[in-house]
This record gives sequence, structure tokens and C-alpha cells, in this order.
Amino acid sequence: MHHVQVRIPARKQSYQIKVAGGLLAGLGDDSRAVLGQAARRVALISNPTVFNLYGETATAALRSAGFQVVNWLMKEGEQHKTLSSLSHALAFLSDQSVERSDAVIALGGGVVGDLAGFAAAVYLRGISFIQVPTTLLAQIDASVGGKTAVNTPAGKNLVGAFHQPRLVLIDTETLRTLPRRELTAGWCEAVKQGAIGSRALFDQTVRLLGKTQASQTEVCATIAAHCRFKASIVAGDEREAIDREDHRSRRILNFGHTTAHALEKITGFRRFRHGEAVGYGILVAGEISKNLGMLPADELESLRAAVALCGPRPPAGDLNIAEIINSTKGDKKSVGGIAKWVLLERIGRARIIDGNQIDKGVLRQSLRAALQS
Ligand SMILES: NC(=O)c1ccc[n+]([C@@H]2O[C@H](COP(=O)([O-])OP(=O)(O)OC[C@H]3O[C@@H](n4cnc5c(N)ncnc54)[C@H](O)[C@@H]3O)[C@@H](O)[C@H]2O)c1
Repeated sequence: MHHVQVRIPARKQSYQIKVAGGLLAGLGDDSRAVLGQAARRVALISNPTVFNLYGETATAALRSAGFQVVNWLMKEGEQHKTLSSLSHALAFLSDQSVERSDAVIALGGGVVGDLAGFAAAVYLRGISFIQVPTTLLAQIDASVGGKTAVNTPAGKNLVGAFHQPRLVLIDTETLRTLPRRELTAGWCEAVKQGAIGSRALFDQTVRLLGKTQASQTEVCATIAAHCRFKASIVAGDEREAIDREDHRSRRILNFGHTTAHALEKITGFRRFRHGEAVGYGILVAGEISKNLGMLPADELESLRAAVALCGPRPPAGDLNIAEIINSTKGDKKSVGGIAKWVLLERIGRARIIDGNQIDKGVLRQSLRAALQS
């Protein structure tokens, strides 16, 4: 089993991320160990798909450790990560008399984790929260770092809170039931993290992607390495400080996201899974980096090969370049109306630059090259 310790300087508690196959059966004992004897009740928040697959195992494990388990299932999908669902979740916690010493457990992907985490952050001004992520994206990224949020009609993740979990339990066996597209999306995010994290993390990810039959041991080790990377970034910059632009600021996690958000927006959030759009976004950022003379051509080639190994993505070559560029200007990560681009100096080292430092011709050419791929 892999253990990753997350220490956030501003918080008195640190917490553990555990990674192994089959951990769900031990959810009760692991939860008891962090919550203590005062916790009587846990609210297990999930959605129908994930609960049908793993709800019984999770519930049995929690009951065997002496918890009363109450379940609340949100509707399936990103479109339900809303204030309205949050309000239903909060009403449920009140109706079930969940107390300060009790806990919320999120069983699902990033959508469930973000909503359940936000409910735990604001219910009774904050109660304990445990993450049991069941998608690859949630296991390497969303469950680590304490960001919780819901979407509003104005945009994604616009209302939320920082609320660190008490424990993250990653059972890699749950990936066996994950649909292929969700895996592709997760691997694109893994390539993103490798590209900005370190050459070693990038190479480890690519090695795994290149195998037709990877072992559980290799999968666990790679997921743990990604958690370690994300935890290190979060420990250094929990709240994504707006004045930080160095290569270890939390903002580097937005690598590939300026284009990804634009692609999702102009296709009405229907064509791409978020990670698939990030796959294109990585390539656009790589092309810009090369065209600005920052990134050697062979490093861009490695990036292209890595994204290709993640799996097929919906086509993007038909999209209107001017419309994409226009949409990047309204990106929510812009500062003072100027888009911030995360680029690469080399694989393993990111650099943040202002959008107005990128020549329009370079931007157009980079988008064209990357979206045709
Ligand atoms: N908090 C953060 O730091 C952070 C970081 C990245 C992304 N996010 C958020 O994460 C969300 C995306 O998360 P996601 O990609 O996990 O998508 P998701 O939660 O929508 O899950 C994808 C699909 O897989 C299904 N599923 C989940 N686990 C399964 C399993 N083991 N077997 C079969 N099906 C399973 C879900 O029901 C869903 O249909 C977005 O809302 C995004 O904003 C948050």
C-alpha cells in the first residue's frame, strides 16, 4: 500500500492519502481511525451509478466499524453540481441529525467529491470529510487539495470553499468499472501533471500508458506519485495565491486549461469530457511554448506521443479558431482581463505568462497545429 502524507502549513491537521487495490473493504476501520469514537453517524454521498457498484461494500465496511450510515444520492452528472443539489444535501444532513462530530464521505468521481466536500465545508460551519474517489481524474487530482465547489449559471466552480479532507482512500480496483472515455480523460490530466511536475513523473506515466497490461502495482505506484506531486503543490500554495506565478504555484495546475475551458464552452459542454479537452489544451500550450522558443521540438514530440497514448479524443479540427481565441479572453483564471497561460520551459518545468505576450499569429498557428492532431 502507498501512503502519501499531506501537510498544509496553515492547518493544524495533516492527513493521509492511502492507495491500493481493495481498500474499500477497510473504509470503516480507516474512517474510525481518523474520526475517533465520538463519531456515530456518517453521511455517504454518492450517485446512483457509483452507489450501485460500490455502495454495499462501503456501507457494510462502515457499519462493521460501528457507524450508522445514511445515504444521499445526487443526480448523475456535472449539470447537477449546483447550489440546488447542495441545498438538498444540506437539508438531508439536517434531517438526519448529522452532528459536528460526525462526517460526510464522498464516494464517486470529482462531481460527487466537489459537492459532498462543499456540503461538509458549510454544514454546521464545517464537519469532517473523507474522500473515496472512484474515477482516475478524482484519484490523481480532484480528491487531493481541498478545493470544493458547485457550478452556477455564470460558470463552473464559481462558488466553493477550501476544506481539506481527513482522509483520502483510493481503491484502484474501482477503476475496473470506469468507462473508457473517463479513463482517457483521467490519463490526459495525468500527462498534464507529469508535464508540469517532473521528468520522472512524466516518464512514469508514459511508461504505464505504453503497457497493454499494466499491473495493479504499477497503477498504484503511478497514482500515488501523482497524489504526492499534487499534495506538494497544495502544501506550498493551498489557496492558489493570485500574486504567485512561479513554477511551483498552484496556478501551474491550469496547464492546458486555458484552451480546454474555451473548447468546452464553445461546444456547449457536450462534445468533450473535461480531460479530453485538457488533452488538446496541453498540445496547444506545448506548440506555443515551442513557437516562442522556450520548449525544444523533441520535448513537444514527447508531449504529443504521451497525449496520443491516453486514448482517442473527439475531433477538434473543425472548431473556429477565432471563436476559441475570443473565448480564452473570458477565462475565469484571467487576471485584470488578461488570460494567463501556463507554458513549458521543458517537461517538468512550467512557466506562467500573460496572454498579451503571445503574438496573435503564434496563437492561431499553435491552435491550428494542435487541434488537427
Ligand atoms: N476539486 C478539485 O480540485 C477538482 C480538480 C479537478 C476536477 N474537479 C471537478 O471534478 C469533476 C469531474 O470529475 P470526474 O472526471 O471524476 O467526473 P464525474 O464525477 O462526472 O465521473 C464521471 C462518470 O463516471 C462515473 N463513475 C465514477 N466512478 C465510477 C466507477 N468506478 N465505475 C463506473 N463509473 C464511475 C460517474 O457516475 C460519472 O458518470 C468536475 O466537476 C471538475 O470541476 C475538481
